[in-house]
This record gives sequence, C-alpha cells and structure tokens, in this order.
Amino acid sequence: MALADFIDSLDTLVDDAKSVFGAAENEAALEEARVEFLGAKKGKLKAAQKGMGAVDKTERPAAGKRLNEVKGQLESLFESAKSRFGTEAAGADDTFDPTLPGASFRIGKLHPITQTIEELKDIMGRLGFSVAHGPEIEDERHNFEALNIPPEHPSRDPLDNFYLACAQQGQDGNEREQTGGALLMRSQTSTVQIRVMEKTPPPIRIISLGRVYRPDAVDATHYPMFHQMEGLLVDEGITMADLKSVLRMFASNYLGGDVEVRFRPSFFPFTEPSVEADYLWNGDWIEFGGAGMVDPNVFKAVGYDPEKVTGFAFGLGVERLCMRRHNITDIRNLYKNDVRFLHQF
Ligand code: FA5
Repeated sequence: MALADFIDSLDTLVDDAKSVFGAAENEAALEEARVEFLGAKKGKLKAAQKGMGAVDKTERPAAGKRLNEVKGQLESLFESAKSRFGTEAAGADDTFDPTLPGASFRIGKLHPITQTIEELKDIMGRLGFSVAHGPEIEDERHNFEALNIPPEHPSRDPLDNFYLACAQQGQDGNEREQTGGALLMRSQTSTVQIRVMEKTPPPIRIISLGRVYRPDAVDATHYPMFHQMEGLLVDEGITMADLKSVLRMFASNYLGGDVEVRFRPSFFPFTEPSVEADYLWNGDWIEFGGAGMVDPNVFKAVGYDPEKVTGFAFGLGVERLCMRRHNITDIRNLYKNDVRFLHQF
C-alpha cells in the first residue's frame, strides 16, 4: 500500500472519531465510542496499526509517525468529549487507584486532665477509695463554716473568691441565712468532705475530683479554674502514719517506682495537725498538696463524735500532677484548646 493511501485512511479515521465522540450523549455512549476507536484489542486504531504492515517498507517510518499523531488526536478528542460530562466523568475509572491508602482522619482523644482524673480514680480505687461528688456552686457553710473557717478568716475575703452577687440576697432582700449563707464558686474540693459526712456515718473512705475556682493571677503554674483531688478517710484509730502511707502508695503508683514522701508543718483550719506533702522527684522535693488530720471541730459540725473517730484528709492539685507526668511546663497550654498541643497526650 502506498503511504498516501494509508494516510488517507487515517484522516478518515480521525473524521469518524470526531463525529462519533461529538455525538455521544452520555458517559455510556462515550465509553462505547472509546472502545470502538481506542480499544486495545479490536479498536479501529489498533486495526490501522495492523494495516501498517502493508505499507512499503521504506515508507513505514513515516506511516508510524503519522499513526502516533493520530493516536494522540483520538485521545484528546476523547478527553474533551469526556469533560462535557462534568468532573465525575473527568475522573473516570482508569484514574482511580483502589490500592492507594485511604484519606486518614484524626480520632479524638480525652483531654489530658480528664485522662489524669481517670487514672487517679483508678489508683485510689485500688486503695479502697470510692468517688463522691459535690456541687461547684457552694454556700458559705460548706466552703468555709463547717470546715472551721470563721467569718473573719482571710480566705473568705471577697477578693479571694468568686462570690455570686445575685445569690447573696433573696428576692425579698433578706440575707439567706437558712440556706447556708452566700453562694460562691467553690474554692476547694474540701466542701465534699462536709457533704459526704453530713449524709453518711463513719467509716468513710472517699475521694472527690472536680473543678475549683479562685481569682488567682494567671502564670505558668496558676489558673483561675483548676482541679483538685480531695481524699477523706475516717474510722476508729486512724493516724498520720496511715495518711503518709496512703500518699506514698499513691505517689508511687502515679509516678512509678518507690517514691519518697515528706511532710512539712503547715496550717489549714480544717486539719490539726496540718502538713504540706512533698514527693522526691529527680533529687528535688515537689509539693503536691495540703493534708492533715481532720480537726475535731469539723467532726462536731457534721455530728460525728471526735472522741470516737479520727481521720485524715488531703487535697492535691490535678493540673500539677498532670504537668509533672507529661513534662508540661505551662498550665495555660492545658486550656488554650490547641489540638496540636492536646493531641500529643
Ligand atoms: C487546699 O485547697 C486545701 N483544701 C487542701 C487540703 C485538703 C488540706 C484537705 C488539708 C486537708 P491549697 O490551697 O494549698 O489547699 O491547694 C491545694 C493544691 O491545689 C496546691 O498544692 C496546688 O497544687 C493546687 N493549686 C492551688 N492553687 C492553684 C491554681 N491557681 N492553679 C492550679 N493549681 C492550684
């Protein structure tokens, strides 16, 4: 066959393809057209390629070159026809690779403070402590009076607490003596000691974990809202040795290894004697909270007989424990809601 004839047949092929691809009304029709012209086995282009064998040997390179051009033309005719059917058709099946990994998405996590709280409950649960709850809006009786904190005590200063102005007086303008005094956001979880003892006779062995509020200036270790873990154990014959061994077992479980605990003399109105408890960490003594033996006046306020029972109580800062565990150096990071930070834990 002469080269000119072969090229004529290719031109006809292109003209046919133009009209068939152009006439396809939907994706299925276009796919049929694609198979008709570009099908790998029986397509018209393939047939033309086979026909090239009949072209004179010396003219075959020129025939092959033209054939390649036609192949490109047919493919771009097909592509432009495909684009008529929108993006779905444009990303047709041959571009979808089912072996590629799927798009990944982030699974949410519990906040590090929530994780810490769960772990503290777990450790203290194994030491026999059950969990008690109390309200975050408290009255003065539970936040102060029953805890042996008299009206003139500086910790009751309005500048050191979030009192709820609207709740200090009833609508009639009278003081709310009968409800336990003014309301405030609780400044410590020691309130739950009172709430539990008011309702339950001894023996008591509880912890309480929750938010407390103080108008403290914000810095790397202070926040106006933070969490405490309160502990209270009341029974006959309880001593400070019990308190120390519970805190030591707690610190060892939480931090790992056998962690030494020391007591420094301190003062809290609701414990006598009172201590600050420190644990030894990498050669440094780190404070983890206040503690002491429950003051007899507290027992009297809830109707317990201080001649019969003794007990200990402690209150630890949950943020500080969480920060120590994860090497977090600034408490503010816990409350910025930056998932890039929070997702690490
Ligand atoms: C108390 O709140 C006592 N109720 C603890 C207690 C309970 C003593 C039972 C005796 C018996 P204190 O004010 O020291 O104590 O607070 C306890 C812990 O809370 C501190 O050691 C510290 O870890 C943490 N803490 C106090 N203020 C803040 C704050 N602004 N931000 C973060 N953590 C704080």
